Amino acid sequence: MQPYLRFDHVRRSFDGIVDVVHDLTLDVARGEFLSLLGPSGSGKTTTLMMLAGFERPDGGEILLDGAPITRLPPHRRNIGVVFQSYALFPHMTVAENVAFPLQVRGATRAQQRERVARALDMVRLSDLADRMPVQLSGGQQQRVALARALVFEPRLVLLDEPLGALDRALREEMQAEIRHLHAALGVTMVYVTHDQAEALRLSDRIAVMAGGTLRQVGTPAALYETPHDAFVAGFLGESNFLPGTVAAIEDDIALVRLDCGVPAEALAGPLQPNQRCRIAVRPERIAVAAITAEEMGEGALPATLLEAIYLGDHIRLLLRVGAPGFPTTEITVKRPAGVPMAGLEPGLPAALAWQPHHARAFALDPAAPTLSQHRA
Ligand SMILES: Nc1ncnc2c1ncn2[C@@H]1O[C@H](COP(=O)(O)OP(=O)(O)OP(=O)(O)O)[C@@H](O)[C@H]1O
Ligand SMILES: [Mg+2]
Repeated sequence: MQPYLRFDHVRRSFDGIVDVVHDLTLDVARGEFLSLLGPSGSGKTTTLMMLAGFERPDGGEILLDGAPITRLPPHRRNIGVVFQSYALFPHMTVAENVAFPLQVRGATRAQQRERVARALDMVRLSDLADRMPVQLSGGQQQRVALARALVFEPRLVLLDEPLGALDRALREEMQAEIRHLHAALGVTMVYVTHDQAEALRLSDRIAVMAGGTLRQVGTPAALYETPHDAFVAGFLGESNFLPGTVAAIEDDIALVRLDCGVPAEALAGPLQPNQRCRIAVRPERIAVAAITAEEMGEGALPATLLEAIYLGDHIRLLLRVGAPGFPTTEITVKRPAGVPMAGLEPGLPAALAWQPHHARAFALDPAAPTLSQHRA
């Protein structure tokens, strides 16, 4: 099937030397909610601005509904845009702000009235139609911006960190509202964020970018469960990273000699014996008990519990792992709260284990930004 939106080998360089967007090829289906997720400077806004028409690619083509739009000016693309800064016209009322895109498209007064009323109703702002932007809260201003981007029934809605300036509670409320609007209208949305929790919550699919390069595209579950590289494993959710050397590979499982002097197993990427690697394993996928590694069984790691932090819905355990005479490494484990600690006490020995298919061994990637453990 033909995609609704296609980036076809798109690149952009501001200095003619470094590509801030590098050879981007990406398809988006009609009606899809796709998020561009990546750290600051990864090229998300530049990608969105090329789509909106405010930036010109240095190579490649952008196609919408089968037709190239790369050389169309922004106002001929029929795309709605919401920016992080609300960018409302300060001298116009809420209703006038929302009517603006209809006005420039030559809609009649009656059409404008009807559509503005419908758009304000959609974002639950009908009562505030005559207010000025300064009389609105941040969340209300962002709803006006959303109504203004939707009012002309655009082919595509682009949102660049639209909730970045809002506090956490309001951000979560607006996330729910954007989800509902997307479901109700069925409009294709491309959403930029550097917040992995927000991307997981909103998206049909997420495109992870780093340093101008697309790292992986997939559903939230696919990215979380099967990250292709250490960057994705660390950026989406939380992972422990344990450096080591591949000892052997058998049936897609790598046996790794960890630098802390103990062996461990993980699903192997494209790796060779003797290659340096890192095992990534999620804190909630590690079993821990106040017994010895021998008692826990084959593949268990000896550890010492350093601290246990109660966080309401779960308990975070920090453990030190390492054989005598080797550099130690620290591992974070999440345990559901309410499960008895069964002798797990700071300062005392414990054992750790995980299913090999719950961990992944990745080649060391010098290009990946070094991410220490990413706190959710
Ligand atoms: N007009 C410009 N001139 C020169 N360099 C630019 C310009 N716009 C962006 N850049 C550079 O391009 C790179 C990507 O910027 P971009 O704004 O796309 O990143 P981003 O992923 O949106 O980051 P953030 O999360 O901080 O908004 C950065 O290194 C930035 O400094
Ligand atoms: Mg940006």
